[in-house]
Amino acid sequence: MRTDTPQPVRLADYRPFPFAIETTRLVFDLHPTATKVTAELAIRRVGDATEPLVLDGERLKLLSIAIDGQALGANQFVVDAEHLTIAEVPDRFVLTTEVEIDPSSNKALTGLYMSGGRFCTQCEAEGFRTITYFPDRPDVLSRYTVRIEADRKFPHLLSNGNPGAFGQVGETRHFLEWTDPFPKPCYLFALVAGDLDVLADKFITMSGREVALRILVDPGQASRAAYALDSLKRAMKWDEDTFGREYDLDLFAIVAVRDFNFGAMENKGLNIFNSALLLADPETATDLDYERIEAVVAHEYFHNWTGNRITCRDWFQLCLKEGFTVFRDQSFSADQRGAAVQRIKDVRALRARQFAEDAGPLAHPVRPSSYLKIDNFYTATIYEKGAEIIRMLKTILGDAAFRKGSDLYFDRHDGQATTVEAFIACFAEASGRDLTAFFDWYEQAGTPSVTIDTDYDAAAKALTLTLTQSTAPTPGQPNKKPLPIPVAIGLLSAEGEVLRDTEIVLLDQARQTVRWEGVTSAPVLSALRGFSAPVNLTTDARASDRYVLFAADPDLFNRWEAGQTLARDLILARAAGTPDEVGEERYADALGRALVDDAAEPAFKALLLALPSEPDLALMSDPADPAALHEARDTLRTRIAVHLGDLLRRLHGEMQSEGEFSASAEAAGRRALRNACIEILAADPRDDNLMRIVGHFEASRNMTDMIGALYPLVSIGGVAREKALANFHFAWRAEPLVLDKWFAVQGRDPNEDALERVIALTSYPDFEPTNPNRLRALVATFANFNPARFHDPSGAGYRFLADQILAVDAFNPTTAARLVDPLGGWRRYKPELGQQMREQLERIKAHPGLSRNVLELVAKALD
Ligand code: ARG
Ligand code: ZN
Repeated sequence: MRTDTPQPVRLADYRPFPFAIETTRLVFDLHPTATKVTAELAIRRVGDATEPLVLDGERLKLLSIAIDGQALGANQFVVDAEHLTIAEVPDRFVLTTEVEIDPSSNKALTGLYMSGGRFCTQCEAEGFRTITYFPDRPDVLSRYTVRIEADRKFPHLLSNGNPGAFGQVGETRHFLEWTDPFPKPCYLFALVAGDLDVLADKFITMSGREVALRILVDPGQASRAAYALDSLKRAMKWDEDTFGREYDLDLFAIVAVRDFNFGAMENKGLNIFNSALLLADPETATDLDYERIEAVVAHEYFHNWTGNRITCRDWFQLCLKEGFTVFRDQSFSADQRGAAVQRIKDVRALRARQFAEDAGPLAHPVRPSSYLKIDNFYTATIYEKGAEIIRMLKTILGDAAFRKGSDLYFDRHDGQATTVEAFIACFAEASGRDLTAFFDWYEQAGTPSVTIDTDYDAAAKALTLTLTQSTAPTPGQPNKKPLPIPVAIGLLSAEGEVLRDTEIVLLDQARQTVRWEGVTSAPVLSALRGFSAPVNLTTDARASDRYVLFAADPDLFNRWEAGQTLARDLILARAAGTPDEVGEERYADALGRALVDDAAEPAFKALLLALPSEPDLALMSDPADPAALHEARDTLRTRIAVHLGDLLRRLHGEMQSEGEFSASAEAAGRRALRNACIEILAADPRDDNLMRIVGHFEASRNMTDMIGALYPLVSIGGVAREKALANFHFAWRAEPLVLDKWFAVQGRDPNEDALERVIALTSYPDFEPTNPNRLRALVATFANFNPARFHDPSGAGYRFLADQILAVDAFNPTTAARLVDPLGGWRRYKPELGQQMREQLERIKAHPGLSRNVLELVAKALD
């Protein structure tokens, strides 16, 4: 809670901690309402002899404190709301503190809390300080032993590392000791206690060591962890093959919890997951859930090297572990599921989340230089743009030099808390390249704009490319430098034949020209293939060029991109009141031809069928008018539904599979295409289409098919909507993860009455605002993915969101802060709307007792 004006933390102020914590022994005496934590820290002074010992600690009730077994007198230490300070300490000593905490009342879900009757923890970034007094910063590494004691009705007692001694304590309690041989920062500490079912397996590492694998879940749910376990084994093998990284403990455990602020957490040897990202079976989880489970299980596992063995010196270096680890999980998913489809999905997410962030008041560099609350910096910029930077590094250096660089990094910095500079230095050294200019990618915010103009000289058979780049100012950075941008370019003929294969042009000046000889006919440019850099590209391409790419570009990313650009321009033209009816027909025809191409995978065709999203369209129009965009997009969708009706109905039939459910990428691709067909057909709800969708819903035997029809039925409205929602709720009322989907579908309801209904849903008995999954399913889905209804001209959508933010902020600031974003872009909307968005931001800002988390974002949005 806010006391006075909060002071930002600055990278420039970094100082090493003046003490080393050589060992940390923690004793937990667990009780839901009064847990006692005893910490025994073996401390050695490494800094100046005059430095006091200052430990972080919040909301702790200090019961006792001693140095080398001698209790401290009240005048020997000071405790305030955030710290424990001991002015004079010896050079080497053991500090013992005993504190009491109350996990049952912890609804912030950071530190030690209860979820579903079990104890669990979330310490990253700064939760450990609510468990015990400690230097809660990532550069203080210590060896931990942990003793957990609890009532026997909490049968499983888990912490990091390897299990040791255990036994009974009296009649009703028991204990277990854990030792983690690897020094770690406290944000990687974890503890779980409770009744859990176990899915067990083993993995033999590349050097022949046996690792026990355990996934622990709610009683009765073990079979739903099978896909996560399979993903884990594939990820372990992949990291050995691709990065030479082997697992290092005898046990790797994952626990699923229902109440969790984020996706998952990479605690050493004991990952803790949001159950939505771990539990899956065909009946209750969609293919998208499977895909995310595979990616997040891999992500958290990969952190064992990129994050745990090598961690961050300070939180400004967060991208060191997150950007690199996202790059690693994206590469893994590409290898598991197909590179082109994976790349399209990753870029779609990057643009929707990161480009939007970079274009607004919260734009910040991948390595920021100041913050109020570090929790607010777990952003798409740190994660997704951070991953794009690594991807460009690999493109620029080539596969072999990139691997040499990563080997050097793992070798040189193992066991350390380090910096982005040290990381990049390894790649510079391994490749012999100067990466000074490349480093600017970390320090400069904003999405660069790149333009390419072409000039073809038919007589000389030469093509001149003129490339330029510029980056618009972002908060605190008025002047931008040119960045080194790898632009992958190939050429096609007007007939769609390959004229020239992909070449990487490194654009590192504001303006550059390239001349290519031997271009035998007037070329069609295919630039930024595979989305080789996170930039906005403008070229002098005409619509006819885009049709060539849409039909024939061997680079599937650019083939998809051409289709998206055509659709986007048509929607924007219509929203601006200048519809191009001929162009719309032409687009629908070309789409039809792409859909019958036997060489293309169903998963790819499903992506072709998905029109640019409303939020993406809003980002491309200035100022944005969400109602007009919704209308225009819907009109194009209807035109496609009518124009391609027979084809879509035929494909919908052909993609149906009769056999056993398979979670494979191929099978998921067929389901995706089938669902994409009915999503379009729903825009033309004539009887046979409606019957087809209802039939699809009623015959569905897996959640992908069921959800695939539920949204179209909701969007059609009327009886179709009521019946489908009621049936779905009745079938799934006892399954929290499925009920989340029921709320989310209604969050996206495009009908006029959606806002009213969403507000009414918040007083449903099933709506639990203390559960972040449930809250986000309804509130965040509505605010982020239903622009036409969120931006209601009355401002009621904004008031609703502000009310929710304030209500949640009272108990869970981390999650409340993550709801602020949809209001943040107020300047991009037409003034009647933007003004009302601003008013709600002002109202939130003036709220007494607002958390620092929300304050920081609201203040920046208003700045
Ligand atoms: N390190 C976790 C992950 O990306 C996320 C932790 C989120 N913590 C936070 N304070 N936002 O895998
Ligand atoms: Zn991560």
